[in-house]
Amino acid sequence: MLEKMKRTHQCGVLTRENLGQEITLMGWVQTRRDHGGLIFVDLRDRSGIVQVVFNPEYNREAFEAAKEIKNEYVIAVKGKVNERPKENVNPKIKTGEIEVYADRLEILNPSKTPPFPIEDDIRVDESLRLKYRYLDLRRPTMLRNIAFRHEVKKAIREFLDNNGFLEVETPMLTRSTPEGARDFLVPSRLNPGTFYALPQSPQLFKQILMVAGIEKYYQICRCFRDEDLRADRQPEFTQLDIEMSFVDVDDVIALNEKLVKHVVEKTLGISVEIPFKRMAYKDAMELYGTDKPDTRFGLEMVEVTDIALKSEFKVFSEAAKAGGKVKGINVKKAADLFSRRQIDELVEKAKEFGAKGLAWIVYSSEGIKSPIAKFFSEELLNELLKRMNAEPGDLLLFVADADPKLALTSLGQLRLHLGKQLNLIDEGALNFLWVVEFPLLEWDEEENRYVAMHHPFTSPMDEDLDFLETDPSRVRAKAYDLVLNGTEVGGGSIRIHRTDVQERMFKVLGFTKERAWENFGFLLKAFEYGTPPHGGIAYGLDRLVMLLLGLNSIRDCIAFPKTQNAACLMTEAPAPVEPKQLKELHIQINN
Ligand code: AMO
Ligand code: AMP
Repeated sequence: MLEKMKRTHQCGVLTRENLGQEITLMGWVQTRRDHGGLIFVDLRDRSGIVQVVFNPEYNREAFEAAKEIKNEYVIAVKGKVNERPKENVNPKIKTGEIEVYADRLEILNPSKTPPFPIEDDIRVDESLRLKYRYLDLRRPTMLRNIAFRHEVKKAIREFLDNNGFLEVETPMLTRSTPEGARDFLVPSRLNPGTFYALPQSPQLFKQILMVAGIEKYYQICRCFRDEDLRADRQPEFTQLDIEMSFVDVDDVIALNEKLVKHVVEKTLGISVEIPFKRMAYKDAMELYGTDKPDTRFGLEMVEVTDIALKSEFKVFSEAAKAGGKVKGINVKKAADLFSRRQIDELVEKAKEFGAKGLAWIVYSSEGIKSPIAKFFSEELLNELLKRMNAEPGDLLLFVADADPKLALTSLGQLRLHLGKQLNLIDEGALNFLWVVEFPLLEWDEEENRYVAMHHPFTSPMDEDLDFLETDPSRVRAKAYDLVLNGTEVGGGSIRIHRTDVQERMFKVLGFTKERAWENFGFLLKAFEYGTPPHGGIAYGLDRLVMLLLGLNSIRDCIAFPKTQNAACLMTEAPAPVEPKQLKELHIQINN
């Protein structure tokens, strides 16, 4: 009997240095090509591809066996590394100067014909890729994404370990608490009628770990939120979760800048300048119409409410009078870029984004073209042009709304649309930005009460604390978000560690003491036993990896993601269960 083959080398790393060596490779057949008496096989493993040549003169038995193999068969090949003839050298791949002359072949396992080719740039529906995810993950780009994600986690752990952090795991089966997104619930068999919740984040546990004296905690952990899904949202996603004791905002921010710098340098080899810029929430909203501004391009919004108030254009003056806002964008040198029809398309876009309309001024060398100019005196028009920093050749766009927030957000979205349409975005840039000084509370129309913008344990800013009861909406929080290229990659805050402040906060949120204790009693109890000042942050790891790789969807850096309907197409979860299982859980399904 032949001796059992044992793998000696990886395919993708063989070079001229291996010339003459007897080697054994194992992997998948990428392609098989028959060429007048020779068979060429591209053999693939995780490291890459190498060309194997079956030549009847070299070994007839192996040559005959090679006729049987098809794409994606798993094979073992024993052979010798040879130089490729000059005309066959492929400079595009690492192994392009060599090939392996096979003198033994063993088929370890055949394969069905895959439903799509195992290569990049395939045109195939994502649902098919998700159904056959194990094949999709064989494609070089997907493999690269998964490996890169590993590198990111490795760099994170390396940095945090060097800085004295302990990784601590927290439970997956925990207690449902209000505030935040919808929970995923898990029925308890042993305690009929009661439920665990899967954690939306380890927030309360990490705060309790601070009470426990851990001081510097981190965890790369899975979080679960039953919310509507988008390209950057999954029902189950991964956070890098961090909490520290005896710190204030600047300490958390400084450590995290060093962390991000380390991670980007280790994984992409790109040097990142720190400190990152900081922008107050209010400025982000006024200039960009969003709390996660994409600062890779300009087109900042300009406040013109005061000028609008003085105009005869009712849409403007009435919005201004009603306490609303009128904001403008100067699209520099764009007067000739947009035909009348294209401007109408922009108006439609603005309406999709929630604006009631979009007013425009084309300021060309021949003068002003605009449906609203007639409502402005010459003097007022000049004031408007000056405020907008307008020069001949510019296109000015305006949104007015009695609801100031809607004016900001709709024009902010139009700004993003224009940035993409006009190719203003430097796709290679990594633009990190801290958004700080978030409002502590936001008014919830449905619930008719204030809700915490971040969560109920976020500390108010010291200078605003006095307004907590008298003017809640003006209180800013010690909260910060890290924004990368217009996406929120992380967010956190300094927490309330004093019982009196926490009680005041609950009161403003409309929680009675009893209800607060009912929901968060375990945390409030822990806080009675010596709580250090503490704060932290959590990153969406999937989002961070997506952005560092320049991907459009977090699904492309998650091995087994879910669809828009929160389904796994490979395992077909979620799925019905046996009546017996339901009975054990004391659960009845109402159809
Ligand atoms: P937050 O709710 O802001 O904060 O979440 C932190 C980060 O997690 C990412 N993220 C998501 N990523 C993918 N899919 C989702 N459904 C999803 N939801 C959130 C975002 C976000 O910035 N406990 C607090 C953190 C703290 O205060 O320390 C928290 O969870 O990138
Ligand atoms: P109308 O008087 O409705 O014909 O509108 C005149 C111009 O004002 C059109 O170009 C509209 O798109 C624009 N417009 C209407 N409502 C608004 C608004 N809320 N903000 C900015 N422009 C508007």
